[in-house]
Amino acid sequence: MDSGTTYDVRARWREAHTHVIVSTDYHHSMTKVPFQTLPSPLPDEPMAVAAAWLAEAWALKAQPNPNAMTLATVGADGRPSARIVLCKDIVLPDGFVRFVSNYESKKGVELAHEPRAAIVLHWDHLHRQVRIEGHVTRSPETESEEYFQTRPWQSRVGAWASSQSRPVDSRDQLIEQLRAAGRRFETPPVGPDAPDDERRDLIVHVPRPSNWGGYRLWADAIELWVEGEYRIHDRARFERVLTPDLNGGFKGTAWQATRLQP
Ligand SMILES: Cc1cc2nc3c(=O)[nH]c(=O)nc-3n(C[C@H](O)[C@H](O)[C@H](O)COP(=O)(O)O)c2cc1C
Repeated sequence: MDSGTTYDVRARWREAHTHVIVSTDYHHSMTKVPFQTLPSPLPDEPMAVAAAWLAEAWALKAQPNPNAMTLATVGADGRPSARIVLCKDIVLPDGFVRFVSNYESKKGVELAHEPRAAIVLHWDHLHRQVRIEGHVTRSPETESEEYFQTRPWQSRVGAWASSQSRPVDSRDQLIEQLRAAGRRFETPPVGPDAPDDERRDLIVHVPRPSNWGGYRLWADAIELWVEGEYRIHDRARFERVLTPDLNGGFKGTAWQATRLQP
């Protein structure tokens, strides 16, 4: 090995080492929330703990979307894909997580083929992570309908304008699709040059497109993770067996808990 190469390797190591020290200081200075551990004995109802953590993250107002979660699905070819969606609710005691999307999007197509998914919620400043896996079903139409009508009218027009995950020739083309949807439902002007209209009470009738709606992820595994000092985190995985019920949902057995090494 010549001396030039040796020098490069050492320099890189020093850079990397400096970076690690700086990022650790940065990490510690970002939050004053003390480290915690999971309760002992472990809770019987981990979904209730996840719901409480979500509520706490909301109340703290430390991030714009505390309900943002990574949703991982898998394609027919076995290729996984992940993206952020918003968690609308953690519903107890049934133990499912609600989110909404376009049924014809990439995730929608993947879920139609393989109705299992994994989600991850992470609240950095609270030192907490929740991982949930389970079966996915579509929400009842009435629920999707009701929720759609609570959205701002501009978002409802947007749902018609975008064939989510499909190619589009240009941004202009997308904006034209938006305006066309607005014209179709005779809404006030939409698009980047339309005046901002924040009037929530403005009655604008925009029906729900049939390809837009809710999903329920029925949890059969959940991990509660709490960050510990010097990476001695506290983890517990809970599993239960789901059996389909007569209403298109699932009934679960009691949760079995196992503490995991970090
Ligand atoms: C903070 C945030 C929230 C989002 N919420 C949603 C959502 O609730 N539903 C949704 O379909 N897409 C949501 N998206 C967009 C998705 O990440 C993604 O781009 C889109 O759903 C298309 O994904 P797909 O092509 O894998 O189906 C959100 C993105 C971000 C960054």
